[in-house]
Amino acid sequence: MARPAKAPGRSTAPRQATAPRPADALSGDSLAEAGDARIAWASAQMPVLDQIRARFAAARPLAGVRVGACLHITAETANLVRTLVFGGAEVALCAANPLSTQDDVAAALAERHGAAVYGRRGEDPAQLTAHVDTVIATSPQVVIDDGADLVAGVHERGSQLAEQLIGATEETTAGLLRVRAMEAQGVLRCPVMAVNESSAERSFNDYYGTGQSTVDGILRATNLLLAGRTFVVFGYGFTGRGIALRARGAGASVVVCEVDPLRALEARMAGYEVMPSLAAAAVGDVFVTVTGGRDVIGAEHFQRMKDGAVLANAGHFDVEISLPALHSLATGRQRVLPLVEQYTLSDGRRLNLLADGRVVNLAAGDGHPAAVMDISFAIQALCVERLVSAPAGFSPGVIGVPAEIDGAVARLKLDSLGIEIDELTDAQRDYLSAWEQPLR
Ligand code: ADE
Repeated sequence: MARPAKAPGRSTAPRQATAPRPADALSGDSLAEAGDARIAWASAQMPVLDQIRARFAAARPLAGVRVGACLHITAETANLVRTLVFGGAEVALCAANPLSTQDDVAAALAERHGAAVYGRRGEDPAQLTAHVDTVIATSPQVVIDDGADLVAGVHERGSQLAEQLIGATEETTAGLLRVRAMEAQGVLRCPVMAVNESSAERSFNDYYGTGQSTVDGILRATNLLLAGRTFVVFGYGFTGRGIALRARGAGASVVVCEVDPLRALEARMAGYEVMPSLAAAAVGDVFVTVTGGRDVIGAEHFQRMKDGAVLANAGHFDVEISLPALHSLATGRQRVLPLVEQYTLSDGRRLNLLADGRVVNLAAGDGHPAAVMDISFAIQALCVERLVSAPAGFSPGVIGVPAEIDGAVARLKLDSLGIEIDELTDAQRDYLSAWEQPLR
Protein backbone atom coordinates (compact mmCIF):
# COMPACT_ATOMS: atom_id res chain seq x y z
CA MET A 1 0.00 0.00 0.00
CA ALA A 2 1.14 3.52 -0.70
CA ARG A 3 2.12 5.88 2.04
CA PRO A 4 2.19 9.39 0.64
CA ALA A 5 3.93 11.72 3.04
CA LYS A 6 1.80 14.13 4.97
CA ALA A 7 3.70 16.99 3.41
CA PRO A 8 6.05 15.65 0.78
CA GLY A 9 8.95 17.94 0.17
CA ARG A 10 7.44 21.02 1.76
CA SER A 11 9.82 23.74 2.85
CA THR A 12 9.24 23.13 6.54
CA ALA A 13 12.51 21.96 8.12
CA PRO A 14 12.46 18.17 8.37
CA ARG A 15 12.69 16.72 11.84
CA GLN A 16 15.76 14.92 13.05
CA ALA A 17 15.42 11.23 13.77
CA THR A 18 14.92 10.38 17.42
CA ALA A 19 17.76 8.84 19.39
CA PRO A 20 18.07 5.05 19.40
CA ARG A 21 16.05 3.30 22.11
CA PRO A 22 16.42 -0.11 23.70
CA ALA A 23 14.62 -2.84 21.73
CA ASP A 24 12.21 -3.69 24.56
CA ALA A 25 11.04 -0.08 24.69
CA LEU A 26 9.91 -0.37 21.08
CA SER A 27 7.42 -3.19 21.51
CA GLY A 28 4.39 -1.08 22.20
CA ASP A 29 5.42 1.85 20.05
CA SER A 30 4.13 2.90 16.68
CA LEU A 31 5.61 1.57 13.49
CA ALA A 32 7.04 4.97 12.64
CA GLU A 33 8.72 5.26 16.00
CA ALA A 34 10.37 1.87 15.59
CA GLY A 35 11.45 2.90 12.09
CA ASP A 36 12.89 6.12 13.42
CA ALA A 37 14.97 4.23 15.96
CA ARG A 38 16.31 2.05 13.17
CA ILE A 39 17.09 5.09 11.01
CA ALA A 40 18.98 6.72 13.89
CA TRP A 41 20.92 3.51 14.56
CA ALA A 42 22.01 3.37 10.91
CA SER A 43 22.76 7.10 10.90
CA ALA A 44 25.33 6.61 13.65
CA GLN A 45 27.26 4.37 11.21
CA MET A 46 26.98 6.88 8.37
CA PRO A 47 29.25 9.79 9.31
CA VAL A 48 30.06 10.79 5.74
CA LEU A 49 26.43 11.17 4.81
CA ASP A 50 25.95 13.01 8.09
CA GLN A 51 28.51 15.64 7.08
CA ILE A 52 26.97 16.01 3.64
CA ARG A 53 23.56 16.41 5.27
CA ALA A 54 24.84 19.22 7.48
CA ARG A 55 26.27 21.02 4.45
CA PHE A 56 23.08 20.46 2.45
CA ALA A 57 20.96 21.81 5.31
CA ALA A 58 22.93 25.06 5.26
CA ALA A 59 23.42 25.51 1.51
CA ARG A 60 20.15 23.91 0.22
CA PRO A 61 21.70 22.93 -3.13
CA LEU A 62 18.59 20.96 -4.12
CA ALA A 63 15.99 23.59 -3.21
CA GLY A 64 12.74 22.77 -4.98
CA VAL A 65 14.22 19.94 -7.06
CA ARG A 66 11.83 17.00 -7.54
CA VAL A 67 13.72 13.74 -6.97
CA GLY A 68 12.14 10.38 -7.85
CA ALA A 69 13.87 7.40 -6.28
CA CYS A 70 13.37 3.66 -6.71
CA LEU A 71 15.52 2.04 -4.02
CA HIS A 72 15.36 -0.65 -1.38
CA ILE A 73 13.43 1.03 1.43
CA THR A 74 15.82 0.47 4.31
CA ALA A 75 17.16 2.52 7.21
CA GLU A 76 20.23 3.35 5.10
CA THR A 77 18.09 4.58 2.22
CA ALA A 78 16.10 6.65 4.71
CA ASN A 79 19.30 8.48 5.63
CA LEU A 80 19.97 9.26 1.98
CA VAL A 81 16.41 10.54 1.59
CA ARG A 82 16.77 12.68 4.72
CA THR A 83 19.95 14.16 3.27
CA LEU A 84 18.19 15.09 0.03
CA VAL A 85 15.23 16.56 1.92
CA PHE A 86 17.59 18.62 4.09
CA GLY A 87 19.13 19.85 0.83
CA GLY A 88 15.70 21.16 -0.23
CA ALA A 89 14.59 18.32 -2.53
CA GLU A 90 11.02 17.04 -2.83
CA VAL A 91 11.48 13.28 -2.71
CA ALA A 92 9.10 10.55 -3.90
CA LEU A 93 10.42 7.07 -3.14
CA CYS A 94 9.18 3.67 -4.31
CA ALA A 95 10.43 0.16 -3.55
CA ALA A 96 13.00 -1.54 -5.80
CA ASN A 97 12.01 -5.02 -4.63
CA PRO A 98 8.88 -6.52 -3.04
CA LEU A 99 10.78 -8.21 -0.23
CA SER A 100 13.30 -5.55 0.80
CA THR A 101 11.00 -2.89 2.23
CA GLN A 102 11.34 -2.29 5.98
CA ASP A 103 7.79 -1.24 6.80
CA ASP A 104 8.69 0.62 9.97
CA VAL A 105 11.28 2.66 8.09
CA ALA A 106 8.80 3.42 5.29
CA ALA A 107 6.30 4.65 7.88
CA ALA A 108 8.88 6.83 9.61
CA LEU A 109 10.08 8.35 6.35
CA ALA A 110 6.56 9.21 5.25
CA GLU A 111 5.27 10.43 8.59
CA ARG A 112 8.32 12.16 10.02
CA HIS A 113 10.83 12.99 7.32
CA GLY A 114 8.85 14.71 4.61
CA ALA A 115 9.16 12.15 1.80
CA ALA A 116 6.37 10.50 -0.19
CA VAL A 117 6.91 6.75 0.16
CA TYR A 118 5.29 3.98 -1.89
CA GLY A 119 6.08 0.45 -0.82
CA ARG A 120 5.17 -2.32 1.59
CA ARG A 121 6.96 -5.59 2.20
CA GLY A 122 5.40 -8.53 0.36
CA GLU A 123 3.70 -6.58 -2.42
CA ASP A 124 3.09 -8.27 -5.76
CA PRO A 125 4.88 -7.19 -8.95
CA ALA A 126 1.78 -5.32 -10.21
CA GLN A 127 1.73 -3.14 -7.07
CA LEU A 128 5.44 -2.53 -7.42
CA THR A 129 4.93 -1.34 -11.00
CA ALA A 130 2.01 0.85 -9.92
CA HIS A 131 4.30 2.58 -7.41
CA VAL A 132 6.91 3.19 -10.10
CA ASP A 133 4.13 4.83 -12.16
CA THR A 134 3.11 6.96 -9.18
CA VAL A 135 6.64 8.25 -8.75
CA ILE A 136 6.90 8.98 -12.47
CA ALA A 137 3.64 10.91 -12.23
CA THR A 138 5.37 13.36 -9.86
CA SER A 139 7.48 14.45 -12.89
CA PRO A 140 10.86 13.96 -11.26
CA GLN A 141 13.69 16.18 -12.43
CA VAL A 142 16.33 13.82 -11.05
CA VAL A 143 16.01 10.05 -10.74
CA ILE A 144 17.89 7.76 -8.36
CA ASP A 145 17.49 4.19 -9.55
CA ASP A 146 18.41 0.73 -8.32
CA GLY A 147 17.61 -1.57 -11.24
CA ALA A 148 16.61 1.11 -13.79
CA ASP A 149 12.85 0.73 -13.36
CA LEU A 150 12.33 4.50 -13.17
CA VAL A 151 14.66 5.39 -16.04
CA ALA A 152 13.11 2.69 -18.25
CA GLY A 153 9.60 3.70 -17.14
CA VAL A 154 10.16 7.38 -17.88
CA HIS A 155 11.39 6.50 -21.39
CA GLU A 156 8.52 4.10 -22.02
CA ARG A 157 6.07 6.86 -21.22
CA GLY A 158 7.42 9.28 -23.81
CA SER A 159 10.62 10.94 -24.87
CA GLN A 160 9.43 14.38 -23.71
CA LEU A 161 9.35 13.22 -20.11
CA ALA A 162 12.82 11.70 -20.50
CA GLU A 163 14.25 14.83 -22.06
CA GLN A 164 12.97 16.91 -19.16
CA LEU A 165 15.11 14.88 -16.74
CA ILE A 166 18.20 16.70 -15.54
CA GLY A 167 19.71 13.28 -15.06
CA ALA A 168 19.70 10.01 -13.20
CA THR A 169 22.01 7.90 -11.08
CA GLU A 170 22.09 4.09 -11.09
CA GLU A 171 23.09 2.06 -8.05
CA THR A 172 23.37 -1.45 -9.44
CA THR A 173 25.05 -3.55 -12.15
CA ALA A 174 21.74 -4.94 -13.38
CA GLY A 175 20.39 -1.41 -13.82
CA LEU A 176 23.45 -0.32 -15.76
CA LEU A 177 23.10 -3.29 -18.10
CA ARG A 178 19.57 -2.09 -18.88
CA VAL A 179 20.57 1.54 -19.30
CA ARG A 180 23.47 0.57 -21.58
CA ALA A 181 21.05 -1.51 -23.67
CA MET A 182 18.90 1.63 -24.02
CA GLU A 183 21.98 3.64 -25.00
CA ALA A 184 23.02 1.03 -27.59
CA GLN A 185 19.55 1.18 -29.13
CA GLY A 186 19.78 4.96 -29.27
CA VAL A 187 16.75 5.50 -27.02
CA LEU A 188 18.44 6.90 -23.89
CA ARG A 189 17.49 10.57 -23.63
CA CYS A 190 19.14 11.64 -20.37
CA PRO A 191 22.52 11.42 -18.62
CA VAL A 192 22.84 8.52 -16.19
CA MET A 193 25.68 8.49 -13.68
CA ALA A 194 27.07 4.98 -13.21
CA VAL A 195 27.37 5.04 -9.42
CA ASN A 196 27.79 1.27 -9.41
CA GLU A 197 31.01 1.59 -11.35
CA SER A 198 32.70 4.22 -9.20
CA SER A 199 35.86 2.93 -7.58
CA ALA A 200 34.61 3.50 -4.05
CA GLU A 201 31.33 1.75 -4.77
CA ARG A 202 33.05 -1.32 -6.24
CA SER A 203 35.58 -1.63 -3.46
CA PHE A 204 33.14 -1.26 -0.59
CA ASN A 205 29.54 -1.83 -1.64
CA ASP A 206 30.07 -4.79 -3.95
CA TYR A 207 32.97 -6.46 -2.19
CA TYR A 208 32.44 -5.87 1.52
CA GLY A 209 28.72 -5.05 1.38
CA THR A 210 27.44 -7.90 -0.78
CA GLY A 211 30.04 -10.26 0.64
CA GLN A 212 28.95 -9.87 4.24
CA SER A 213 25.23 -9.29 3.71
CA THR A 214 24.73 -12.27 1.40
CA VAL A 215 26.30 -14.71 3.83
CA ASP A 216 24.35 -12.98 6.62
CA GLY A 217 21.05 -13.39 4.70
CA ILE A 218 21.68 -17.10 4.09
CA LEU A 219 22.55 -17.70 7.73
CA ARG A 220 19.57 -15.74 9.03
CA ALA A 221 17.23 -17.74 6.78
CA THR A 222 18.71 -21.16 7.57
CA ASN A 223 21.09 -21.00 10.58
CA LEU A 224 23.34 -23.42 8.66
CA LEU A 225 26.91 -24.15 9.70
CA LEU A 226 29.05 -23.22 6.71
CA ALA A 227 32.23 -24.85 8.01
CA GLY A 228 32.82 -28.09 6.14
CA ARG A 229 30.22 -27.36 3.45
CA THR A 230 30.79 -26.79 -0.24
CA PHE A 231 29.62 -23.29 -1.15
CA VAL A 232 29.22 -22.56 -4.86
CA VAL A 233 29.34 -18.97 -6.13
CA PHE A 234 28.07 -18.28 -9.65
CA GLY A 235 29.83 -15.17 -10.96
CA TYR A 236 33.21 -13.83 -9.88
CA GLY A 237 32.70 -10.11 -10.35
CA PHE A 238 33.20 -7.69 -7.47
CA THR A 239 30.21 -9.10 -5.61
CA GLY A 240 31.08 -12.75 -6.23
CA ARG A 241 34.57 -12.13 -4.88
CA GLY A 242 33.18 -10.68 -1.68
CA ILE A 243 30.79 -13.59 -1.17
CA ALA A 244 33.51 -16.18 -1.86
CA LEU A 245 35.83 -14.49 0.62
CA ARG A 246 33.24 -14.43 3.42
CA ALA A 247 32.10 -18.01 2.76
CA ARG A 248 35.72 -19.19 2.97
CA GLY A 249 36.14 -17.16 6.14
CA ALA A 250 33.24 -19.09 7.64
CA GLY A 251 35.02 -22.37 6.88
CA ALA A 252 33.33 -23.45 3.66
CA SER A 253 35.14 -24.97 0.67
CA VAL A 254 34.35 -22.50 -2.08
CA VAL A 255 33.73 -23.39 -5.73
CA VAL A 256 33.45 -20.64 -8.35
CA CYS A 257 31.59 -20.94 -11.66
CA GLU A 258 32.46 -18.17 -14.11
CA VAL A 259 32.18 -17.74 -17.88
CA ASP A 260 34.87 -15.06 -18.24
CA PRO A 261 38.30 -16.77 -18.58
CA LEU A 262 40.24 -13.98 -16.87
CA ARG A 263 37.90 -13.87 -13.90
CA ALA A 264 37.92 -17.68 -13.71
CA LEU A 265 41.71 -17.61 -13.58
CA GLU A 266 41.64 -14.93 -10.88
CA ALA A 267 39.31 -17.15 -8.84
CA ARG A 268 41.71 -20.08 -9.19
CA MET A 269 44.69 -17.92 -8.19
CA ALA A 270 42.73 -16.76 -5.16
CA GLY A 271 42.61 -20.41 -4.12
CA TYR A 272 39.05 -21.39 -5.08
CA GLU A 273 38.08 -24.45 -7.10
CA VAL A 274 36.79 -23.47 -10.52
CA MET A 275 34.56 -25.75 -12.57
CA PRO A 276 31.60 -25.74 -14.97
CA SER A 277 28.26 -25.20 -13.32
CA LEU A 278 26.93 -28.69 -14.04
CA ALA A 279 29.92 -30.23 -12.28
CA ALA A 280 29.47 -27.84 -9.36
CA ALA A 281 25.76 -28.75 -9.16
CA ALA A 282 26.70 -32.29 -8.13
CA VAL A 283 29.08 -31.30 -5.31
CA GLY A 284 27.59 -28.13 -3.79
CA ASP A 285 25.69 -27.80 -0.52
CA VAL A 286 24.89 -24.08 -0.86
CA PHE A 287 24.53 -22.26 -4.21
CA VAL A 288 24.52 -18.48 -4.67
CA THR A 289 23.98 -16.72 -7.98
CA VAL A 290 25.37 -13.24 -8.50
CA THR A 291 25.87 -12.93 -12.25
CA GLY A 292 23.30 -10.33 -13.37
CA GLY A 293 22.20 -12.88 -16.00
CA ARG A 294 19.23 -15.25 -16.16
CA ASP A 295 18.65 -19.02 -15.82
CA VAL A 296 22.11 -19.52 -14.39
CA ILE A 297 20.77 -22.47 -12.39
CA GLY A 298 18.16 -24.49 -14.30
CA ALA A 299 16.65 -27.94 -14.74
CA GLU A 300 19.90 -29.72 -15.54
CA HIS A 301 21.46 -28.37 -12.36
CA PHE A 302 18.48 -29.29 -10.18
CA GLN A 303 18.61 -32.81 -11.57
CA ARG A 304 22.20 -33.24 -10.33
CA MET A 305 21.95 -31.58 -6.92
CA LYS A 306 22.26 -33.34 -3.57
CA ASP A 307 19.31 -33.80 -1.24
CA GLY A 308 19.07 -30.75 1.03
CA ALA A 309 20.89 -28.32 -1.28
CA VAL A 310 20.26 -24.64 -0.51
CA LEU A 311 19.64 -22.16 -3.34
CA ALA A 312 20.00 -18.41 -2.98
CA ASN A 313 20.23 -15.48 -5.36
CA ALA A 314 22.12 -12.29 -4.59
CA GLY A 315 21.59 -10.68 -8.01
CA HIS A 316 19.15 -7.80 -8.42
CA PHE A 317 16.41 -9.68 -10.32
CA ASP A 318 14.82 -13.02 -9.39
CA VAL A 319 15.66 -14.66 -12.72
CA GLU A 320 19.08 -16.15 -11.99
CA ILE A 321 17.61 -19.34 -10.47
CA SER A 322 15.04 -20.62 -12.96
CA LEU A 323 11.85 -20.79 -10.92
CA PRO A 324 9.76 -22.11 -13.84
CA ALA A 325 12.21 -25.05 -14.18
CA LEU A 326 12.09 -25.69 -10.43
CA HIS A 327 8.29 -25.56 -10.39
CA SER A 328 7.98 -27.94 -13.30
CA LEU A 329 10.41 -30.50 -11.83
CA ALA A 330 8.94 -30.42 -8.32
CA THR A 331 6.31 -32.90 -7.22
CA GLY A 332 5.70 -31.07 -3.95
CA ARG A 333 6.47 -27.78 -2.27
CA GLN A 334 6.35 -26.70 1.34
CA ARG A 335 7.38 -23.60 3.31
CA VAL A 336 9.57 -25.15 6.01
CA LEU A 337 10.85 -21.89 7.53
CA PRO A 338 9.66 -18.31 6.99
CA LEU A 339 12.20 -17.74 4.23
CA VAL A 340 12.78 -21.31 3.06
CA GLU A 341 10.56 -23.01 0.47
CA GLN A 342 11.36 -26.71 0.12
CA TYR A 343 10.81 -28.32 -3.30
CA THR A 344 10.59 -32.11 -3.48
CA LEU A 345 11.65 -33.79 -6.71
CA SER A 346 10.22 -37.06 -8.06
CA ASP A 347 13.10 -39.12 -6.61
CA GLY A 348 12.55 -37.65 -3.15
CA ARG A 349 15.44 -35.14 -3.12
CA ARG A 350 14.62 -31.85 -1.47
CA LEU A 351 15.94 -28.47 -2.69
CA ASN A 352 15.61 -25.44 -0.42
CA LEU A 353 14.97 -22.10 -2.11
CA LEU A 354 15.64 -18.99 0.00
CA ALA A 355 13.49 -15.84 -0.14
CA ASP A 356 11.67 -16.91 -3.31
CA GLY A 357 14.90 -16.50 -5.28
CA ARG A 358 14.89 -12.77 -4.58
CA VAL A 359 17.95 -10.79 -3.57
CA VAL A 360 18.82 -12.75 -0.45
CA ASN A 361 20.83 -10.12 1.41
CA LEU A 362 17.86 -7.76 1.52
CA ALA A 363 14.99 -10.25 1.48
CA ALA A 364 16.40 -12.44 4.27
CA GLY A 365 18.64 -9.86 5.94
CA ASP A 366 18.87 -6.10 6.30
CA GLY A 367 21.05 -5.53 3.24
CA HIS A 368 24.52 -4.06 3.30
CA PRO A 369 25.66 -2.66 6.64
CA ALA A 370 25.12 1.07 7.13
CA ALA A 371 28.87 1.73 7.25
CA VAL A 372 29.10 0.51 3.66
CA MET A 373 25.96 2.27 2.46
CA ASP A 374 27.44 5.44 3.96
CA ILE A 375 29.90 5.43 1.08
CA SER A 376 27.38 4.45 -1.61
CA PHE A 377 24.79 6.97 -0.56
CA ALA A 378 27.34 9.74 -0.01
CA ILE A 379 28.30 9.20 -3.65
CA GLN A 380 24.63 9.24 -4.63
CA ALA A 381 23.98 12.51 -2.78
CA LEU A 382 27.03 14.19 -4.33
CA CYS A 383 26.12 12.91 -7.81
CA VAL A 384 22.62 14.36 -7.47
CA GLU A 385 24.14 17.67 -6.40
CA ARG A 386 26.54 17.54 -9.37
CA LEU A 387 23.76 16.80 -11.86
CA VAL A 388 21.71 19.70 -10.57
CA SER A 389 24.57 22.19 -10.34
CA ALA A 390 26.42 21.46 -13.62
CA PRO A 391 26.15 24.76 -15.51
CA ALA A 392 25.79 23.27 -18.98
CA GLY A 393 24.27 19.99 -17.85
CA PHE A 394 25.48 16.65 -19.18
CA SER A 395 24.82 15.04 -22.55
CA PRO A 396 22.51 12.02 -22.67
CA GLY A 397 24.31 8.73 -22.11
CA VAL A 398 25.95 6.70 -19.36
CA ILE A 399 28.62 8.79 -17.64
CA GLY A 400 31.17 7.94 -14.98
CA VAL A 401 31.07 9.33 -11.47
CA PRO A 402 33.48 12.30 -11.42
CA ALA A 403 36.77 11.05 -9.91
CA GLU A 404 36.84 13.88 -7.38
CA ILE A 405 33.57 12.63 -5.87
CA ASP A 406 35.12 9.21 -5.27
CA GLY A 407 38.19 10.85 -3.75
CA ALA A 408 36.18 13.25 -1.59
CA VAL A 409 34.04 10.45 -0.17
CA ALA A 410 37.05 8.25 0.58
CA ARG A 411 38.75 11.16 2.35
CA LEU A 412 35.69 11.94 4.45
CA LYS A 413 35.40 8.27 5.41
CA LEU A 414 39.07 8.16 6.44
CA ASP A 415 38.55 11.34 8.50
CA SER A 416 35.56 9.78 10.21
CA LEU A 417 37.74 6.78 11.12
CA GLY A 418 40.48 9.06 12.45
CA ILE A 419 42.94 7.79 9.83
CA GLU A 420 45.56 10.12 8.39
CA ILE A 421 47.57 9.40 5.23
CA ASP A 422 50.69 10.86 3.65
CA GLU A 423 50.77 13.34 0.78
CA LEU A 424 53.22 13.24 -2.12
CA THR A 425 56.01 15.81 -1.98
CA ASP A 426 56.35 18.19 -4.94
CA ALA A 427 59.45 16.28 -6.07
CA GLN A 428 57.55 12.98 -5.99
CA ARG A 429 54.66 14.50 -7.92
CA ASP A 430 57.07 15.90 -10.54
CA TYR A 431 58.73 12.49 -10.88
CA LEU A 432 55.42 10.79 -11.51
CA SER A 433 54.54 13.21 -14.30
CA ALA A 434 57.97 13.33 -15.98
CA TRP A 435 59.05 11.54 -19.16
CA GLU A 436 62.03 13.42 -20.63
CA GLN A 437 64.88 12.42 -18.28
CA PRO A 438 66.08 8.92 -17.47
CA LEU A 439 63.65 7.90 -14.72
CA ARG A 440 66.25 6.67 -12.23
N1 ADE B 1 21.42 -2.38 -1.29
C1 ADE B 1 22.13 -3.27 -0.59
N2 ADE B 1 22.05 -3.05 0.73
C2 ADE B 1 21.25 -1.97 0.89
C3 ADE B 1 20.80 -1.27 2.03
N3 ADE B 1 21.14 -1.61 3.26
N4 ADE B 1 19.99 -0.23 1.80
C4 ADE B 1 19.64 0.12 0.54
N5 ADE B 1 20.04 -0.49 -0.56
C5 ADE B 1 20.85 -1.55 -0.39
